[in-house]
Amino acid sequence: MDIHNIDVKEMKRTEVNQVLQEGKVGSEILVKGWVKAFRANRFISLNDGSGFNNLQVVVDFENYPEELIKRISFHSCISVKGELVESQGAGQKFELVAKEIEILGDSNAGDYVLQPKKMTPEYLREKAHFRMRTNTFSAVFRIRHAVAFAIHKYYNDNGYYYMHTPIITGSDAEGAGEMFRVSALDPDNAPKGEDGKVDYKQDFFGKATNLTVSGQLQAEIGALALGKVYTFGPTFRAENSNTSRHLAEFWMIEPEVAFCDIHGDMDLAEDFSKYLIKYVLDNYPDDLKFLENRILDMEKQMPKEQRRPMPLIETLNFVIENDFERITYTEAVNILRSSKPYKKGRFEFDVEWGKDLQAEHERWLVEKKFKKPVIVVDYPKDIKSFYMRLNDDEKTVAAMDVLFPGIGEVIGGSQREERLEFLQKRMAEMDIPEHELWWYLELRKFGGCPHAGFGMGFERMVQFITGMSNIRDVIPFPRVPGSAEF
Ligand code: 4AD
Ligand code: MG
Repeated sequence: MDIHNIDVKEMKRTEVNQVLQEGKVGSEILVKGWVKAFRANRFISLNDGSGFNNLQVVVDFENYPEELIKRISFHSCISVKGELVESQGAGQKFELVAKEIEILGDSNAGDYVLQPKKMTPEYLREKAHFRMRTNTFSAVFRIRHAVAFAIHKYYNDNGYYYMHTPIITGSDAEGAGEMFRVSALDPDNAPKGEDGKVDYKQDFFGKATNLTVSGQLQAEIGALALGKVYTFGPTFRAENSNTSRHLAEFWMIEPEVAFCDIHGDMDLAEDFSKYLIKYVLDNYPDDLKFLENRILDMEKQMPKEQRRPMPLIETLNFVIENDFERITYTEAVNILRSSKPYKKGRFEFDVEWGKDLQAEHERWLVEKKFKKPVIVVDYPKDIKSFYMRLNDDEKTVAAMDVLFPGIGEVIGGSQREERLEFLQKRMAEMDIPEHELWWYLELRKFGGCPHAGFGMGFERMVQFITGMSNIRDVIPFPRVPGSAEF
């Protein structure tokens, strides 16, 4: 612990979180942090990011020059040496009676874009260089860290190997064609082939490349050697979706498991999701409580039907305590077609076997019908990717989506088509040239086996756990159509 606080010659700094948890009355300590509030020229709420709770610093302003007191303002950065005493006020065990105060960084309130009052998420998104200092965003980003850590812990503890799959790739794993081109050619003067199109043979890699949309195809290589692997890295999609659930750059967790079928895949998805939620509930109660209250507060202005059915923490507990509902796509279509909103024409999109379920359908299933996460399995092959294993009915594939309340799809996965001739047929039908994925086909020729995996959208999971309504507010610097600031 001590080596993380090295910076002072005469005295070591103690982190606020440590003071609050294990401070000793009567001890002389040094703390540093940002001023969250300064009341009555006497009480400073100090936070250094080490945890949600602030340390109350008591200042006897008569002992300090007026000039210095004036500089203690919202989000100015200060250093305080003092004595820890038992707190007189409610809500905290200790407070620090200041003996020496130093201003490390002024924050001139007149010019500062943040104010100690409610600011909208939209406003704060434009101030992403400061928003992590707010209670809401510091809680969100501590939890984002917690989820990332728990992911590695879960897989490590269960015998999976972390695998780094490439970020620059020549393949479009999802076949959706929504990729960002990676090129070192001069865009104004790119060499052209005889067909008049850009000749990527002359590009850096000797072929056309793009930023990856998924690490899955390479993770399959790992699973067929190491047995159980997972990737956790950035993925990129140039889909022009301006929604509260889409980013152009997001992080995905992709486990891939040999000797696993679609049922094992669903079990893993459910167990893994619950583990992440439980980890945050167990380790970040203060941040969660704050986020819960924030939502309850906002909901006071909303009509009843727009409010969450349960407060945040209750929702999270409910999800880990109950089995996810599992239904087939065909069942989902039947349930939807006999639902009230369908019959009354309240859905914008039609529900018909063979068509993809829209967000409104998914959310109705999760929020109105089952009121808990739902796994939909066995989708029509024509709306899913080429690599998914064909079921015996030859119409559906062993694919599953896990749908969460308030968000919709958080996980998409499948059992993979391990039978060479089935895979080749599917690729031909979908116009995917074999020469582009020769190595993927060879995995089926030499020592292949049944295997399965899925991709979890990291930000969507963080969104669910924090209750943030827009995905742009759970990643430090969102990349979305028309915006790549910071
Ligand atoms: O369902 P998707 O497209 O599945 C795959 O990419 C598979 N290769 C995964 C696998 O089987 N290994 O994406 C997986 C998840 C989605 O369920 C969603 O949560 C998230 O990634 N996702 C996005 N999150 C934020 N912004 C976007 N534009 C996203 N697109 C997908
Ligand atoms: Mg999907």
